[in-house]
Amino acid sequence: MKSNAVSDLAQNEVSDKLRATIRKELQPELDEIRSDTLRDQVVEAWAVAIAHTSFTCISDLRASGMWNTDRLIRGTQADHLRGVAAIAIQIAHALKQQFPELPVDRDILVAGALCHDVGKPYEYDPVKQARRKAQPSKAGWPIFRHPPYGMHVCLTVGLPDEVAQIALGHSYEGEVLARSPECTIVHYADKSYWQTLRISGLMVDDYKDQGAA
Ligand SMILES: [Fe+2]
Repeated sequence: MKSNAVSDLAQNEVSDKLRATIRKELQPELDEIRSDTLRDQVVEAWAVAIAHTSFTCISDLRASGMWNTDRLIRGTQADHLRGVAAIAIQIAHALKQQFPELPVDRDILVAGALCHDVGKPYEYDPVKQARRKAQPSKAGWPIFRHPPYGMHVCLTVGLPDEVAQIALGHSYEGEVLARSPECTIVHYADKSYWQTLRISGLMVDDYKDQGAA
């Protein structure tokens, strides 16, 4: 029998059903990863991340860059991941056309793009937020950001350091790191995604604090 501490950790089961849901949510970009192992690890990372929250799948997450910022006018967080992966693939392709020696590992690039926000379920979870907000002096508020938690998830499921580094370094935490070529591409693909849609009027600013505490 699980102790309370352990059963409290994972709110949902990391089941084959959850894995299958995630596999579907990340198509078709997931299949751009040639390594079967890497592909399975990407799915596992998201399954573990979701299972440790009150969400049931990636698409349950607000389609926004941060939990309290403007969101996509349509689409889901899964669409964001797929969009960033698709942009990253095209950036790498264009650069490789001119510089075939570009040291970009395509599998790492796609896995990193699909996992760059794998820490978001924890950071966005309304149940965790309510708990934290109720006692801000206990563990601090707001909850730590998704890049460090995403790195933790990546390493926990056995993803390579190169992918974990993309999860950690894709946003401003990466400003104090030396980003790899793959991490640099994902960083700008992510920025391009949100900023282009925002400036084009495809984001809506309707976040309302539900009064977690
Ligand atoms: Fe992102």
